[in-house]
Amino acid sequence: MDDAMLPDPVARGTVTRRELLEAGWKIGGGLLAVAAAWTSWEALRPLADVSGGGVLALKPASSYTEGTATFVREGRLYVTRAGGALHALAQKCPHLGCAVPFCAASGRFECPCHGSHYDLAGEWLAGPAPRGMDRHPLQVIDGRVHVNTTVLELGPPLGTDRVRLPTREGGCAPPAP
Ligand code: FES
Repeated sequence: MDDAMLPDPVARGTVTRRELLEAGWKIGGGLLAVAAAWTSWEALRPLADVSGGGVLALKPASSYTEGTATFVREGRLYVTRAGGALHALAQKCPHLGCAVPFCAASGRFECPCHGSHYDLAGEWLAGPAPRGMDRHPLQVIDGRVHVNTTVLELGPPLGTDRVRLPTREGGCAPPAP
C-alpha cells in the first residue's frame, strides 16, 4: 500500500506511539501551566481603582450578619458587619494593590502577596501595609445597603483598634514577620 494513503503518521511509521504520547503530555503540561499562571495573575494582580462606579444598591442591611464578609463583585469591595457596624471595604490592598481575600478560617482579611492582615472592620493587624483597608461610604436607605463607590476613604492608621474582635485559630496566608 502507498504510505500516503495510510490514515495517520503512527500508522505510516513516521511517529512512534511513544513520541505521540510525549507530545501529548507536553501540550497538556503547557496548557496546565498557562491556566495556573492565569489563575495566579487573576488572584494576585494589582487592582485598578474602582472609584467612579456610582452608588450600588445592595441587599437589605439585615442580611449582613455579625462576623460576615460579603464580596460585591461589581464594586470590588466587601460589605462586612463587625462590632455591630457595617463597613464597605475596598478589596485592593493598601500596600501594593493586590486583591485581598477574606479568610473564613481566621475571620480576617489576609493578603497573599506580602502577608498584611486586617480584621473584619478593615483595621490593620500585621504586615507591611501603611494603614487599614480603604473604604467607601455606606448608608442604609429604606433598609437596604447603599455603597458609594465614587468616594474612597483612606483606611484607619496603624494601631487603630476601635473594633475588638475575638481571634480565631487558623489562617490562609501567614502574616509577614
Ligand atoms: S499587596 Fe497586600 S501586603 Fe503587599
